[in-house]
Amino acid sequence: MRKDLGAKPFLYPQLVMIIGTYDENGHPNAMNAAWGGMADYHKVMVCMSKHKTTDNIDITKEFTISIGDADNVVACDYVGIVSGNDEPNKVEKAGFSVSKAKYVNAPIINELPLCLECRLLEIIDEDLYMAEIVNVNADESILDDQGSVCLEKFTPIIYDPSTHGYYKIEGRVGNAFKDGNNLR
Ligand SMILES: Cc1cc2nc3c(=O)[nH]c(=O)nc-3n(C[C@H](O)[C@H](O)[C@H](O)COP(=O)(O)O)c2cc1C
Repeated sequence: MRKDLGAKPFLYPQLVMIIGTYDENGHPNAMNAAWGGMADYHKVMVCMSKHKTTDNIDITKEFTISIGDADNVVACDYVGIVSGNDEPNKVEKAGFSVSKAKYVNAPIINELPLCLECRLLEIIDEDLYMAEIVNVNADESILDDQGSVCLEKFTPIIYDPSTHGYYKIEGRVGNAFKDGNNLR
């Protein structure tokens, strides 16, 4: 038996993106964003209402997206419930440290091993931020021998909008562009 749940934001798995920005004085901020994803091979979209983060992006036109992981759940949630407008030392209080990204004017969060450096392309309908990925910066600890991101060495978390939980991604179950061939 199946059940209709109504119009809900249940596009599983929902991302945990930590958006890193600098303000006009180069002071770092970070916020949690679940609403977004890939728009094209080199484009991402993030849906954000007005926050300290969006004020910063209005100034710099650049930001980073670090992927929330299982080692940093509390910090990732903290930056999603406290605003940099109320807590200027939010990044530090989260227990995060930052380094300036090489290709954009935005901070890389050192504790989160995978980071996309993004440049704003346009804002659609006042809240959908479309951006180009200009670089991906990764901690070598999460790369395999070929230099690929290895999900055996890194545990991204996902957000469950139904019960407001964070879950971890675990375990390879198949091979894309290959397993389907078994049914040809
Ligand atoms: C799990 C989670 C997901 C969130 N996703 C979004 C989102 O996609 N867009 C958004 O505008 N706010 C989202 N928020 C809320 C912001 O992260 C929150 O308002 C934050 O305090 C803004 O920080 P800032 O004012 O320092 O930029 C989310 C919060 C949580 C906890």
